[in-house]
Amino acid sequence: MTLPTAPPAQDFTGRTVVVTGAGSGIGRATALAFAERGARVLVADLNAESAAEVTARIQETGRTAVAVVGDLSDQTVVDRLVATALAADGPDGTSGTIDVLVNNAGIMDSMSAVADVTDAEWERLLRINLTAPFLLTRAVLPHMLDAGRGAVVFTASEAALRGSAAGAAYTAAKHGIVGLTKSLAVTYRHRGIRSNAVAPGGTITNIRLDIDPEAAGPQALGAYMGNVGQPAEAETQAAAIVFLASDAARNINGAVLPVDGGWSAV
Ligand SMILES: NC(=O)c1ccc[n+]([C@@H]2O[C@H](COP(=O)([O-])OP(=O)(O)OC[C@H]3O[C@@H](n4cnc5c(N)ncnc54)[C@H](O)[C@@H]3O)[C@@H](O)[C@H]2O)c1
Repeated sequence: MTLPTAPPAQDFTGRTVVVTGAGSGIGRATALAFAERGARVLVADLNAESAAEVTARIQETGRTAVAVVGDLSDQTVVDRLVATALAADGPDGTSGTIDVLVNNAGIMDSMSAVADVTDAEWERLLRINLTAPFLLTRAVLPHMLDAGRGAVVFTASEAALRGSAAGAAYTAAKHGIVGLTKSLAVTYRHRGIRSNAVAPGGTITNIRLDIDPEAAGPQALGAYMGNVGQPAEAETQAAAIVFLASDAARNINGAVLPVDGGWSAV
């Protein structure tokens, strides 16, 4: 008796994958992981130097990668990213679709409590961490719907699951990401689109924690933040993102997967 042969569920050959924040940390590891599995990768980041480095690294392996540089909270950058993803032909003939969108780019807040959040911090956090993923998803969606398939994966956060993992603005934005994830999942579930999120706990990246330990936010949160545990490698988050985007997760839709070593279980 032989065991049934498993389909190559994490083979992305011939597929186009857009990864935002792909110049650093979780996005960088995710872009490399998709490329390793055969995908053509759009490396989208604000930082031109790091986007170029990741793109070159993928190209050195013989895979296709295209850098798109700009602030993804700007609609014109979003439109340019989508046009680039659809236009450029890979050597294997892939073009014209976006199979996977990873909405990962994000910034940290200063851990401010509600009373201390300035208008500027609130608007910046919501704009980059929630509106930008919305703008890009809205722009990509018609192409996925035309193709009748597509997977969207968001990088949420532990702060999407609880009120004690970050400041008010970051927490609100990441809870918003969960809402967006689920709204997409339920609305387009019969049209071949899946939408899921990872909720990373502490992860070793270049994200900047701009915290004043004397401020009310960190003081109030401190007692609850003790169970963070060992920070994860960015590759650990990437593996979960790739899984959620893959055919192995074909019946997973609207899920928010904690990748936090058990922090959210405490
Ligand atoms: N590192 C953690 O502990 C942790 C925990 C939970 C969630 N997250 C989330 O993971 C995601 C990735 O963060 P990371 O930790 O890898 O940080 P990182 O700083 O290492 O990488 C983020 C990347 O996003 C890019 N970026 C930021 N704003 C952008 C914009 N407006 N347009 C285009 N690119 C932009 C940055 O240039 C950077 O390359 C974020 O959404 C973050 O909120 C991180």
